[in-house]
Amino acid sequence: MTWNGEEYQSRFDRIAAEGGDIHGEAALVRSFQPASVLDAGCGTGRVAIELARHGIAVTGVDVDESMLATARRRAPGISWYQRDLVDLDLGQSFDVVVMAGNVPLFTPPGTEPALVAGVAGHVRPAGRLVAGFSLNRGYTLDDYDAHCRAAGLTFEVRYATWSREPYTGGEYAVSVHCRP
Ligand SMILES: C[S@@+](CC[C@H](N)C(=O)[O-])C[C@H]1O[C@@H](n2cnc3c(N)ncnc32)[C@H](O)[C@@H]1O
Repeated sequence: MTWNGEEYQSRFDRIAAEGGDIHGEAALVRSFQPASVLDAGCGTGRVAIELARHGIAVTGVDVDESMLATARRRAPGISWYQRDLVDLDLGQSFDVVVMAGNVPLFTPPGTEPALVAGVAGHVRPAGRLVAGFSLNRGYTLDDYDAHCRAAGLTFEVRYATWSREPYTGGEYAVSVHCRP
């Protein structure tokens, strides 16, 4: 799938202009007080740019050229990498790796385990992987937990929303796994 970065970003700009909160994901990530964050599947940099605004060292990775062009326009000072998350190897690790906006649902079918391995490999010891995605599109929490386990991460907590409402079933979840 290819994206139109400017069009994607304009939707969030509109919500923000109307007073909506477009930074729930960044707020949850900030609650872990990370010094460094990898925004995996960063798109136009919505999450990374907000984290950088709070003094956090961020890196963004996405495979889509148009999304990254918009991210670079919006924040030229951030390190943005055009890479596939599948079997990613940046040669560094982070306090938090975040996947916001259904990232695992947009990787080619069958590549989800390698995508999770690719991002999990960038979580430092005692660091966290935080991911939110819809559960009605074929990729289940059992699958995701198994892929995290295979990548050496342990389950920590699961929420129904980025504002940490408890998960009690339902069609969306935000999962937190950590590296022991
Ligand atoms: C809905 S967008 C979310 C963008 C951003 N995280 C946000 O929340 O605004 C999903 C993004 O995941 C990226 N993505 C999906 N699979 C990927 C993969 N295997 N490697 C790199 N990026 C991927 C897409 O290119 C797209 O930019």
